[in-house]
Amino acid sequence: MHRVTLIPGDGIGPEVAAATRRILAATGVPIEWEEVAAEPVADRRNERFLHADWLDSIRRNRVALKGPIATPVAEGHRSLNVALRQALELYANLRPVRNLPGLKTRFENIDLIIVRENTEDLYAGLEHTVVPGVVESLKIITEKASTRIARFAFNYARQHGRRQITVVHKANIMKLSDGLFLTCCRRVAQEFPDIRCNELIVDNASMQLVLKPESFDIILTPNLYGDIVSDLCAGLVGGLGVVPGANIGDEYAVFEAVHGTAPDIAGQNRANPTAMTFSAALMLEHLGETNAAALVRRALGSVYQAGRPLTPDLGGTATTTEFTDAVVAALERLRAGSPVKA
Ligand code: NAI
Repeated sequence: MHRVTLIPGDGIGPEVAAATRRILAATGVPIEWEEVAAEPVADRRNERFLHADWLDSIRRNRVALKGPIATPVAEGHRSLNVALRQALELYANLRPVRNLPGLKTRFENIDLIIVRENTEDLYAGLEHTVVPGVVESLKIITEKASTRIARFAFNYARQHGRRQITVVHKANIMKLSDGLFLTCCRRVAQEFPDIRCNELIVDNASMQLVLKPESFDIILTPNLYGDIVSDLCAGLVGGLGVVPGANIGDEYAVFEAVHGTAPDIAGQNRANPTAMTFSAALMLEHLGETNAAALVRRALGSVYQAGRPLTPDLGGTATTTEFTDAVVAALERLRAGSPVKA
């Protein structure tokens, strides 16, 4: 029996979390979910902060599946997502981006992985007003965190048969901060002569990604560029509804989709649960349940191959529930050994 912390999150989070739970239940893998308060604590000023229960639960179980959490724009509390990653030292953010079988998008043959540093950079949240009208925001890059993420990426490449790492940076302008990141990556690259390593400035990388995305294998990058490039890459393969993610540290791992709370469609039973379900497949692999992870991917793949039912983000008319029903049915057929259209 695996014990896993479940944070359903805000907006569409509870809807996609419920769908994912149903799909995972159909795999037969015994999982005991420890669901922690959907609502983080609010204090007198209605500020939200990291719920101690979340941290306790994840520290106990070591693995969590998490829905998105809203962060107010240009005001209010700091991101709880960032706080969670920092508190648990989830230093590697892994985002595999692949075409789905049968899903028509502008690009084909995309199979890349973004490895994003997850604990520092401009996400350190250190900003203040120097004098009225002048604001300073600190970009923190350390040798320790840069070397750690680079080593993670190169080890990941070796373990997963990947051949090339592209370091994405802006060291022509931020010569010290991004320069340090790049230097650390170059140093680690020397320990891995079997992996090709090249470098691209982030603006050029963005153009290359929409010109020839199939030429990328692993993208290794600091926190902020990783965030932006992730959404760009999601757009290449069908949007935020289909791209999973994992936050990994030496002790704990938290699996979550790339997308946010999607307030424009929350509560309408029209969110696409694919991204969270793929994140859960990454979690199953992490738990050693590789067969179940493959089953989940094949079941999703068979629905996409059939071309229906699809949720509105992909041009369909299905509800979250109808899509989930189809994935569960495909999974049950696969487990029974019946052929599925794939
Ligand atoms: P978003 O990812 O929530 O939505 C962007 C667009 O993608 C919207 O049109 C939305 O409907 C669509 N979309 C996203 N996920 C979808 C899904 N599963 N199925 C169908 N359509 C989907 O980004 P936005 O609007 O910039 O952020 C909303 C909130 O989410 C903010 O408070 C932000 O801070 C938070 N956020 C949280 C994240 C996390 O918890 N890891 C990550 C990104 C944003």
